[in-house]
Amino acid sequence: MSEPTTDSDLTVVYGAEELVVGPDDETGVVVYEDAAFAAVGGEVVATGPTDEVLAEYPAEDAETAIDATGKTVLPGFVDPHTHAVFAGDRSDEFVAKLKGATYEEILADGGGILRTVDAVREASDEELAANLTEHLDAMLEHGTTTVEVKTGYGLDTETELRLLEAIATAGGEHPVDVIPTFMGAHAVPRDVDTEEYTESVISEQLPAVAEQGVAEFCDVFCERGVFTADQSRRILEAGKEYGLTPKIHADEFADIGGTDVAAAVGAASADHLLQTDADGRETLVGADVTPVVLPGTAFGLGAEYADARAFLDAGHEVALATDFNPNCFARSMAFIATLGSVGMRMTPQEVIRGITSAAANALDRDDGTGTLQPGSPADAVVLDIPSARHLSYRFDTNPVSTVLKSGVVVHE
Ligand code: NIG
Ligand code: FE
Repeated sequence: MSEPTTDSDLTVVYGAEELVVGPDDETGVVVYEDAAFAAVGGEVVATGPTDEVLAEYPAEDAETAIDATGKTVLPGFVDPHTHAVFAGDRSDEFVAKLKGATYEEILADGGGILRTVDAVREASDEELAANLTEHLDAMLEHGTTTVEVKTGYGLDTETELRLLEAIATAGGEHPVDVIPTFMGAHAVPRDVDTEEYTESVISEQLPAVAEQGVAEFCDVFCERGVFTADQSRRILEAGKEYGLTPKIHADEFADIGGTDVAAAVGAASADHLLQTDADGRETLVGADVTPVVLPGTAFGLGAEYADARAFLDAGHEVALATDFNPNCFARSMAFIATLGSVGMRMTPQEVIRGITSAAANALDRDDGTGTLQPGSPADAVVLDIPSARHLSYRFDTNPVSTVLKSGVVVHE
């Protein structure tokens, strides 16, 4: 795979049946027909009707020219919630769940996240980075150009730092932009008191993570049987002291006050939200916290989906993510798009906003990531589908034809 360059090469993508350029509060996204975009030096310089864009930026002059006739072009997908750095396999738990075991029971019995922790502690640094690279490759093949990756399978200072290092190593060598999140508060290690562990996250892990300097966000699993609202708030406040922006896993199995914590600490996003009620939604929206819904997780658990429609019908945006982890083996945002529509009744255009610009908001990106407008990074996905709505409509083969990162073809 070629590395993106930042010199002044011209890229043009033209003739697209549909080109999505950015968000729209009414419809979800703005769609141009028979459209093109041009980029110079990795940045979009023009979007519009193909003849107008090509008149100014002829395809013959371009270093990279892509004829998108019959295809649809979207901003590269942004996946704002994954746990993609891990080792081991939990397919046996999948089978146990089919027979009736629940996610919470498995975790309370020392399985689930804690088994992945065992496997990660045994794995070498090289193995962890190689595993992540394999997943980043799969994500890129499915159109993702920016992805957030959380730690949380170390649960001690040494292993959490190793996971962040693996994220830095794999991310540094990959065309996909990788955004690191520290999640030492993902679970409580076996035979450790939750309060004691909370204190060690605050007084031992966080200072070491800050000194290492890789992580950008701090996340907590605020959940019945895991971290209380008070513990979550203390961890996220402490993270802020070290310059880490808060995020939170809230209301997945029980509403224990995670949305109040999100608002109190000014989180960039609150994620899952399966049990969130009208008050919780109002709290998030009032505090400008981006709601992130994870329909792959609900699908895999056979649970009720989050009420994305309630946010959308009130005029708010909703971001979508894969939540890729050993309990939710989903690396394709196109599959998540279908689940967003079928499971949560989001229109294809609302879904596209959710996996592009809204997802960038969940990651506090304000450089135009997730849009294709003058000034945005030229991260784009050319899809072998005749219109944007086919992204949700189809759920069989991978629709991705070409992926561009900073104007350079990184997958075709
Ligand atoms: O977001 N719920 C907590 N964390 C992950 C699951 C991680 C795991 O089970 O390994 C999630 O779904
Ligand atoms: Fe998660």
